[in-house]
Amino acid sequence: MSGELSPIDKAKFVAAKRAVDFVEDGMRVGLGTGSTAAWMVRCLGELVREDGMQIKGVPTSTRTAELARQVGIEVISLDEAKWLDLTIDGADEFDANLNLIKGGGGALLQEKIVATASDQMIVIADVAKEVAQLGAFPLPVEVIPFGWQTSKALIEETLINLDVLGRDTTLRMNGDAPFVTDEGNYLLDMHLSRIGNVRQLALVINQIPGVVENGLFIDICDVVVIGHGDGKVEV
Ligand code: 5RP
Repeated sequence: MSGELSPIDKAKFVAAKRAVDFVEDGMRVGLGTGSTAAWMVRCLGELVREDGMQIKGVPTSTRTAELARQVGIEVISLDEAKWLDLTIDGADEFDANLNLIKGGGGALLQEKIVATASDQMIVIADVAKEVAQLGAFPLPVEVIPFGWQTSKALIEETLINLDVLGRDTTLRMNGDAPFVTDEGNYLLDMHLSRIGNVRQLALVINQIPGVVENGLFIDICDVVVIGHGDGKVEV
């Protein structure tokens, strides 16, 4: 399945492969979104098809749902599952406290709901995602399209009083049009460079009218499986 991979893809693949060891027969599993999570979905599909493992998967995006069905995983909704044993997902950054920035792939809303509804969240990441302090990766914030420019201005104004380095916020685009999430919302990417107080920032942003959710995952992740380009894995 993995063939000849570049070091970065190899790192993602080995992390994904190791993480599926946590999946047991009969589990309801949250399926993350992104290139690392896609490896995990393929590895799980292999276990279903070749070892007859019985799992039910709750995808975090239409992309992941499509891939899961393609590889033979039974897909159910979160409402059908009600609660999940485990979620495995990628991340854009993680720190020593296992706090994360997510949403680079645009699926942070479903990802946060699914991860929060799980007994355990395992993050799979290449080693380059590990940071001393979150914030170099632009923090995605999902906003409703109505009045998004007002929400953006309010976010930028709020940042003046917070411990961040940058304040520039950009609307994520898909070619000439705004990027639209699975929920029909827009994404603002906040270029903060460094976030001094992740907890405070997450709370304050979510209080701004028009904001649906932000990409800071605090106290949600339980384990990070880190892949390296030479095939080494750390848990
Ligand atoms: C999608 C995400 C992804 O998990 C994150 O962007 C990492 O992606 P990749 O595995 O492709 O580096 O949060 O919304």
